[in-house]
Amino acid sequence: MAEPSIEIDVDLDVQEILLAASQHDIAKLRPLIRSNEKVADPINVKDPETGYTPLHAAVAACEPDEEEKDDSAPNGAEVNGGQGSEHAQLVQSGVETVRFLLLEGAIWNDLDNNNETPGCLARRIGVIELYEIFVDAGVRAEMLLNRLDEYEALSDDEEEEEGEEENEEDETAAQEEGDEAPELVEGPDVTNNRYLESNLTFQNDRLLDQDQNGVMMAWETEIMAKSAKKLLPTPGLRVLNIGHGMGIVDGFFQEQAPAAHHIVEAHPEVVAEMKRRGWHEKPGVTIHEGKWQDILPALVVEGHTFDAIYYDTFAESYADFRQFFSEEVIGLLEQEGKWGFFNGMGADRQISYDVYQKVAEMEIFEAGFDVEWEEIKVPKLVGEWNGVRRPYWVVDSYRLPLCKYMD
Ligand SMILES: C[S@@+](CC[C@H](N)C(=O)[O-])C[C@H]1O[C@@H](n2cnc3c(N)ncnc32)[C@H](O)[C@@H]1O
Repeated sequence: MAEPSIEIDVDLDVQEILLAASQHDIAKLRPLIRSNEKVADPINVKDPETGYTPLHAAVAACEPDEEEKDDSAPNGAEVNGGQGSEHAQLVQSGVETVRFLLLEGAIWNDLDNNNETPGCLARRIGVIELYEIFVDAGVRAEMLLNRLDEYEALSDDEEEEEGEEENEEDETAAQEEGDEAPELVEGPDVTNNRYLESNLTFQNDRLLDQDQNGVMMAWETEIMAKSAKKLLPTPGLRVLNIGHGMGIVDGFFQEQAPAAHHIVEAHPEVVAEMKRRGWHEKPGVTIHEGKWQDILPALVVEGHTFDAIYYDTFAESYADFRQFFSEEVIGLLEQEGKWGFFNGMGADRQISYDVYQKVAEMEIFEAGFDVEWEEIKVPKLVGEWNGVRRPYWVVDSYRLPLCKYMD
């Protein structure tokens, strides 16, 4: 008989934290979070009904009344009206509370029962000030995790014990930024090696792996056309494309009559299909069968250089992509050359897409390149996903990157 009352007590304690968060009452929140012996991980408690964490509660309290909303915000998000009004003050206290909770170690991208992170909620209710705080928190967390991955790779390589203390400190910091949270970029649930061993299905409008993951789809044609045109604006240039897929981007490269057109492709069935379609006989085309990780260093040794490089692979991680732009491009790209990539990281959630754009931009910059973005509206994709395991694209606009060496 004692158990139900314990549960009720715990629930009341959880509700007390969530209530203080929704009231933006930092003075009350501080002891509830810092010295709460009754609740485990008080900063990340969840309301059993809504799945709200204190961050969600602090954001939800900022939802403007109907008359305060207007429809003028970008991307269809509603925005708070009354600047300087009561609502603006509410948003201000919301900003302070959210900052406080993040500093105390709240997970920035935990999901509620509506499958929304606190940032998604902020965007949906139109409080862009809060949305941007979450994007920045996401960028910090991801950068830190990326650094940790680098350290791990280093210590794996060298099998060094020293330096572990530093890693532990970083790990604690990463936990504070929320590495227990859901993955920011939901991958297709398959590793590159498993994908490369998988059987493929070629259809008119799509290429699927054996788990029905969409490897490439025809709706990306306009993106491929624009990317090719930007990278190869005039005939007679030399281009390197990594990942042939359905051959869409390579088709657009061919239209520009390149002097050399190298294609790196790792999947044996894609290579077979390329040959069936006569790609090996097209003007200027050289097919390199294998993973770019093995092919590109050999191209550097052979002294090949290109005016344009495009990267669009499948089932690779952000760390693979970073290895590509920070280690490989420099050896292959002409001084005046341009490179680009299919910018699909995090595209199954707007906030992840925004976070990854910033992370990639910073790291591309660190690797010595400038990046320009062009925004392209993506039509609503509905029927496209029939028969595909998971829609990998939900955001409204594609941001097309064009990268060059820094001046
Ligand atoms: C998304 S598709 C490329 C689509 C292409 N841009 C188009 O326009 O059709 C990705 C391609 O990259 C290939 N790929 C995956 N991992 C690779 C790797 N490590 N090295 C080279 N190619 C890879 C896949 O087999 C697949 O053909």
